[in-house]
Amino acid sequence: MHGMTRQLRQRADYTHKFNVRTGRHGWLRLTPAYSVKVVQEIVERYGSSLSILDPFCGTGTTALSAVSRGLDAATTDINPFLIWLATAKTAHYATSEIAQADKAGKAALDLARRGIVEPAAEPPIHNIERWWSNRARHFLCQLKSAIETVEDRAGPVIDLLHVAFCRTLIKLSAAAFNHQSMSFKEGAQCSFDLNPDAGEVFLDDLAFVLGGAKENPLGIAKIVLGDARNLSGCIREKFDVVVTSPPYANRMSYIRELRPYMYWLGYLKNGRDASELDWLAIGGTWGIATSRLADWSSNKNCWTPNDLPATLRDIANGDNKNGEILSRYVAKYCEDMSTLFESLRHVLNPGARVHYIVGNATFYGVLVSTEQAYAAMLLKYGFTDVDVRAIRKRNSKKELLEFDVSATWCG
Ligand SMILES: C[S@@+](CC[C@H](N)C(=O)[O-])C[C@H]1O[C@@H](n2cnc3c(N)ncnc32)[C@H](O)[C@@H]1O
Repeated sequence: MHGMTRQLRQRADYTHKFNVRTGRHGWLRLTPAYSVKVVQEIVERYGSSLSILDPFCGTGTTALSAVSRGLDAATTDINPFLIWLATAKTAHYATSEIAQADKAGKAALDLARRGIVEPAAEPPIHNIERWWSNRARHFLCQLKSAIETVEDRAGPVIDLLHVAFCRTLIKLSAAAFNHQSMSFKEGAQCSFDLNPDAGEVFLDDLAFVLGGAKENPLGIAKIVLGDARNLSGCIREKFDVVVTSPPYANRMSYIRELRPYMYWLGYLKNGRDASELDWLAIGGTWGIATSRLADWSSNKNCWTPNDLPATLRDIANGDNKNGEILSRYVAKYCEDMSTLFESLRHVLNPGARVHYIVGNATFYGVLVSTEQAYAAMLLKYGFTDVDVRAIRKRNSKKELLEFDVSATWCG
């Protein structure tokens, strides 16, 4: 494998960057979303009447790719905002609903521009002034309230308007996406002040979202709020192919990444909610999740790879003050994934092929070969034909790669 990995490139087409211009896939970005292209290349290898499962829905890339090809798909996530987004992305929209959303969006903008609605309350996001200027916040509060005035029923019209609103709120913010996770633009320059006609930004976003809404998928997606560690508890059907990108053991917090959308749409009310949700997430480490790790104890009945203890010791004994907590983090990550692999077989048809797109990780120089740990766990739980294939370099660190770990469930 080493000769092969030397030739690997970073391949932007294998990341979320490829999705931005791809219709509904481009509605909202999540940096750790994977590329539609990766999913399509895998799905195309299989027959046309298969059902697809993704236990880690995220922005719904797998489900949308599958249903766009006419396949049925199911997907789970523990984050209710992502469940809402993936449901909106995979929904079928009638022409009349799209026309109604267009009319309602323009009417809402007119109300917001004239300032004749009671503005919505500002979301309780920490340091909101860092995110949006006073003018941008004022406009967004007016627009949110106006949207909810023109369309007060839950359903497809308000979903489309809220997706457009989410696009606009990010464009008017000082958020930057040039790092692995969301950060602030240099000098925290808020785009609203560079682009004074925020109304035009919203109209562009509305047009983009409605353009995507016209591309109705051919298949049906089932999008379920649930914990991937207990798949049979939330999904009754069985599947032929799994294509998924689980959280990596890299301490990325999806809640942190998504907080601007989640606060504006009311999915988060305070920092406590945010860190409780992150504790539920595999690999989550934001807020209280870090202190809970200190009290977490390993489940001795949960199988993990035989070489894991040596890696954990190296991380714990490393030359840094966080070694112990990082070692616990990796141990919990592996136990969570082991529980997932164990639960997976209950929702697979005999002969099902699973694909995990996952990156390895380093902790102060100690390499965690997540892909090898997955391969070992799949073998342990009765999968065969386990294959580990490097697909791209993740950044300038030569050892950080992304892999497709695949295996067959014989039933
Ligand atoms: C790498 S992201 C998936 C990105 C997705 N492939 C996409 O293209 O947007 C991993 C996802 O796993 C979800 N997740 C973390 N722990 C989970 C759990 N226990 N059960 C279900 N989903 C979980 C996170 O909320 C996050 O959305």
